[in-house]
Amino acid sequence: MSKFITFEGCEGSGKSTQVALFKEYLEKKGAKYIFLREPGGTDISEKIRNVILDVSNSEMTDETEALLYASARAQLISQKILPSLKNGTLVFCDRYIDSSFAYQSYARGLGLEFVKKINSYAIENCMPDYTVFLNISPTEAFKRKGGVDKDDRLELSGADFHEKVYSGYLALAKENPDRFIMIDCSGSKWQTHEKIVKELEKRGVL
Ligand SMILES: Nc1ncnc2c1ncn2[C@@H]1O[C@H](COP(=O)(O)OP(=O)(O)O)[C@@H](O)[C@H]1O
Ligand SMILES: [Mg+2]
Repeated sequence: MSKFITFEGCEGSGKSTQVALFKEYLEKKGAKYIFLREPGGTDISEKIRNVILDVSNSEMTDETEALLYASARAQLISQKILPSLKNGTLVFCDRYIDSSFAYQSYARGLGLEFVKKINSYAIENCMPDYTVFLNISPTEAFKRKGGVDKDDRLELSGADFHEKVYSGYLALAKENPDRFIMIDCSGSKWQTHEKIVKELEKRGVL
């Protein structure tokens, strides 16, 4: 089995930026890899993503939201993640189950048990080997980003919500110290990139 690495962090923490730099790095190295994103990564999961993020879906209940994330994830796992891992491809995913814990369990208040339970049907024990956590507070991240994206229902959820997401992530990191790789990303995007590469090299992933 190959390795499965996820990137996590608050909105604007730099996940997409780092994923782009990382792709260039892996390309130069000639590594066999695949990059996926959540929710999304398959045609069906991308359609579910549009439903989740659509700002006109203001009536969506927290439970519906959590189940939609789990459905998108179930499809991604069977169609992309497991087959790739089986054929020796390094799998990277921009967000994964920890986003559900941080957003649905902690910030929406659904609790860990509910989210674990619905995800247990979706993930078939497919947990990441390592989770790269881009550690920056939502206040700092939104400042850097220049405000919220008004086309994204989650980004519009308010400062309190995003603070809860952040503290949820910190709690998860504390509970999973061997899996979480904490990256201080207050520096430039290149400094952050170098830190991530160094940490993954140290663990024999690259
Ligand atoms: N280290 C950094 N320093 C300054 N700005 C950054 C840094 N990393 C990312 N950014 C900027 O912050 C914004 C959000 O980054 P992005 O990668 O889209 O975050 P995410 O995918 O986590 O929401 C972008 O405008 C990006 O250019
Ligand atoms: Mg992004």
